[in-house]
Order: sequence, then structure tokens, then C-alpha cells
Amino acid sequence: MLFSKDFFKGKRILVTGDTGFKGSWLSYWLWLLGAEVYGYALPPERGNDHFHLLGLTGKIRHCDGDIRDAVSFTEWMEKAEPEIVFHLAAQALVRKSYVDVKETFDTNIGGSVNLLEYVRQHDNVRSVVFVTSDKSYKNKEWIWGYRETDELGGRDPYSASKSAAELVFQSYLLSFFNERDTLGAASVRAGNVIGGGDWSADRIVPDSVKALAEGETIVLRNPGATRPWQHVLEPLGGYMLLAERLYGGLPYNGAWNFGPDDASMRTVGDLAEKIVECWGSGGVRQEIDGNAPHEAGLLHLNCDKARFELGWQAKWDFEMAVQMTIDWYKGYFGKQDVEQVTRRQIEEYMR
Ligand SMILES: NC(=O)c1ccc[n+]([C@@H]2O[C@H](COP(=O)([O-])OP(=O)(O)OC[C@H]3O[C@@H](n4cnc5c(N)ncnc54)[C@H](O)[C@@H]3O)[C@@H](O)[C@H]2O)c1
Repeated sequence: MLFSKDFFKGKRILVTGDTGFKGSWLSYWLWLLGAEVYGYALPPERGNDHFHLLGLTGKIRHCDGDIRDAVSFTEWMEKAEPEIVFHLAAQALVRKSYVDVKETFDTNIGGSVNLLEYVRQHDNVRSVVFVTSDKSYKNKEWIWGYRETDELGGRDPYSASKSAAELVFQSYLLSFFNERDTLGAASVRAGNVIGGGDWSADRIVPDSVKALAEGETIVLRNPGATRPWQHVLEPLGGYMLLAERLYGGLPYNGAWNFGPDDASMRTVGDLAEKIVECWGSGGVRQEIDGNAPHEAGLLHLNCDKARFELGWQAKWDFEMAVQMTIDWYKGYFGKQDVEQVTRRQIEEYMR
């Protein structure tokens, strides 16, 4: 099920992390739906960031800022006066978190506290979707999908920061938000997301398309790791549906998983092979790095709660998700109008 077509029209919405991969898709989608979108994030890092390719500067109101800076962030929030908040800003990379440890904790925990403090002190917010990660679960490397009630706990700094952000969120929920009739608030945990416009370092899709575009072979560090791959529009559609339900004052407060069906659980090696197939040429090579930091082998989510209580379910299977992703990158490298590619994919998803 999707959100109601006209729900976001004319609503004031704040997206933190709008310059990032997921945030740019979300901001553009909301803009297409007629929302008044405000963004807050660090400036885009690259000239070819999706944020620029979509021309978001001319479509939404964006503020370059650091969410760790409570004064600047609160000033922007007071200007935006959002009714709905999607919190995505984060240091989102596991490998980087081993190097920039303090920055990861300060941003993902401290930055989140700044956001929750604003919500606590202002009545204009009706709906909060607080994005953490599937990595906030304590990974037991078991075959079952994690449920929202399962134990939290992260090993690497990124995962630990997201588990800690969950605990902070739960504290705000239990101490303040649950008492408010006009506010709905939920944390959302999604799995590995793929889609066009992601140029992040050390992620399988950007690394693969950059290699293929240069005529090189895809090199895999951890080909056997199994992940629940889903197209970026899937969790975003879930977050938007949840935002609508929370806004309605219905009892949706709490944690929600958004992941694909079990059939989309594939190894990194399977994904790379599929990328090559969709690209139309290239190859895959394995290179085990004995010094690589620890990465989870198996991690997936049980999404029964979203399915039964929200009527949400992933729409695109693994093949379609990869096809759409590679179509986007082929469009980019083929010098197509990327905004139109993104727009067509959103329209296709909503059909
Ligand atoms: N991409 C995935 O597969 C995935 C999976 C699970 C969870 N998530 C979560 O989804 C969210 C978005 O992820 P993404 O893949 O788009 O990441 P991304 O790295 O592409 O974007 C991160 C965004 O956060 C902003 N940001 C980082 N530090 C900031 C700071 N100090 N102040 C203000 N803004 C700051 C960046 O400017 C950017 O806009 C993150 O919270 C991430 O942890 C992503």
C-alpha cells in the first residue's frame, strides 16, 4: 500500500540529510507531490551528487548546516516550522566509522538528540520518522529475520551509534512523545538500499558501476555476505506511509522494519553478477582482504509488522530493483537528463 496521493500536498516537511542518497530521492519525491520541503544537511560532497542532478536547490529550501550544531539547527527548524520530520542525517558508512569514530557518534547520537529536543519543545510537529538502520540490531548471525522487539546492539561504531540512537529515541518516546495527542513518532530500520545517485565510498553498487564505466572488473571483498537488497523507493515509500499514519494521531508510535521479501536475500556476489548482466558487459573478481574490518555475514529483517499493520510490502523484486538501479547509472553515464530518469522511476513505482 502507498500513502494517499494528496496527503503531502502543501505540507511543511523537514528532511535532514537531504543532500545524501536517500534524502535526495525523498526530497524530490515529496516535492513532486506538492510538499513544501525544507532540508538540512552538510553540503553535497560532489559535483555529480543526486541533489545537484535533480536541481533540488531550486525546488526545496535547503540549509547547509551541521546537525551537531544545536544553535544553527534549531534556528533553521524554527524557520521551517515543519509539521512532518524525516530524520536521515547521519554519518552512514560502516568503514568510515572505524576511522572517524567520534564524528560518527557525535552526529548519529548527538545530532539526533538536537532533533528530538526541537520536537520535544515545539508543538508544530505532528509526525516524526526517525531513520536508524537494520544494523541497530544485535547481530547474532542467525537465519531468522530480526523483529522490532529483538535486542539492539552494534559492534562497529556505525552500528553502535544507530543502536544508541534507537535507545535515545525510545527514551524520548516513553518520557515525552507518547503523552502528546497531536504527535506521532516512529523509528524505522531498513536494510541495504540500492538505487541510482549513490556515489558513496565502499558501497557495492557505486563501486561496481564506477568500475564498469571505466571498463574495469568489479572487485569484491566479501562476496559471500548475504543482504536483503531493496530499491531506495521501497523504504522511502514505507516511511511516507508511516508519516501519514502517524500524522493522523493513530497509534503507530514505536519501531518499524522495512525490508524486502526473503527472495531478495542474495549474496554480494549474486548482486555483482546481476549488475554486470544489467550493464551488458564486464566481470567480477574476488579479492579477500585479510585486514578488512569486521562486517556482518548475515542480517535480515522480519517485516510482518509493516505488512499487517500498515499494509506495506516491497513492490519490486531483486531483479527489478537491480534493473532500475543500473538503468539509472546507464542514464547518467549515457548523458541522459537524470532528473527525468529519477522522475520516471518514481512514477513507475507509484503506478
Ligand atoms: N543507504 C543504506 O543502505 C542505508 C541502510 C540503512 C540505514 N541507512 C540510513 O539512512 C540514512 C540516509 O542514508 P544515506 O545512504 O542516504 O547516507 P548518505 O551518506 O548518502 O547521506 C547522509 C546525509 O546526512 C548528512 N550528514 C552527515 N553528517 C551530517 C552532519 N554532521 N550534519 C548534518 N548533516 C549531516 C549528509 O550531508 C547527507 O545529506 C542514514 O541515517 C543511514 O544511516 C541507510
